[in-house]
Amino acid sequence: MEKKSFTITLDGPAASGKSTLGERLAQVLNFIYLDTGVMYRAVTLAAIKKNVDVNDEMMVTKVAEEMDLDIHPATVADGRSNDIILDGEDVTWEIRLPDVEGNVSQVSAYKGVRVAMTEMQREFGSRGKIVMVGRDIGTVVLPDAEIKLYLDASVEERAKRRYLELINRGKVATYDSVLDDLKRRDNIDSSRAIAPLRPADDAVMIDSDHMNAEEVFDFIYKFVEEHQKID
Ligand code: DC
Repeated sequence: MEKKSFTITLDGPAASGKSTLGERLAQVLNFIYLDTGVMYRAVTLAAIKKNVDVNDEMMVTKVAEEMDLDIHPATVADGRSNDIILDGEDVTWEIRLPDVEGNVSQVSAYKGVRVAMTEMQREFGSRGKIVMVGRDIGTVVLPDAEIKLYLDASVEERAKRRYLELINRGKVATYDSVLDDLKRRDNIDSSRAIAPLRPADDAVMIDSDHMNAEEVFDFIYKFVEEHQKID
C-alpha cells in the first residue's frame, strides 16, 4: 500500500543551497515542495505594503494573522518554483526585493508571526508527500518527519557562492557586503529566542564546503533511497 504522506525536512542557514536542492529533490520524488522562507518574506512584504512599522511586533503579528497567503505550483515559466499570491496579488518576485530582504530576519523572530506561519506550514505538511525547506522544520514544525536533513556550509563559502550568483545575474555586489549580510542574518536566525536555526538531534548533517551541488544532490538522493522509506 502506498503511503499517503511522507515528510522530508531540509533546514540550514541562508545561501546554503537548500532551496535549489529541495526543489530538485521534490521534483525527482514527485513530492510537493514548500520553501517556508517565502512565508516570512510575504509577512514582511505585507507589513511594508500596509505601512506597518516592522519594529512594531504587535502590528506585524496582526498582519501575519490576517494576510491571505496562497502558495501553489508555478503557473508562469519564469524560473519560479511556486506562485506566491498575497491578498490576491502575485508577489513571487517582489518578496525577493532588498526592502524585504533587509527586514525579514527581524520579522521572522516575532513569536506571533512564527505561531501563525507554523500553523500554515503544518497544514501544508498534512497535504501529502512533501519536501519542506526552512530553518526550524525538523526541530519545531514537523518534528516527526520521516527524514530530516540539515545542509550547512561555512559563511565564507556561502558568501562566495551567493556573490557569484549575483554577479552572474548582472547585479552589483561586492564579496564583502554579501559576507557581512550573511553574517548578520546567521546571527539573527541562530540567536533568536524562538525556534532558532539549529539541526534536529536526528538530522543527517551535510557539510557542502567541499561538495558541489551535484554531489550534494547525489548524496541525499542515495540516502533517501537507501532508507527505503519511500514506497
Ligand atoms: O530562506 P530565506 O532566506 O528565504 O528566509 C527568509 C527569512 O525567513 C530568514 O531570515 C530566515 C527566516 N525563516 C525562518 O525563520 N524560519 C523558516 N522556517 C524559514 C525562514
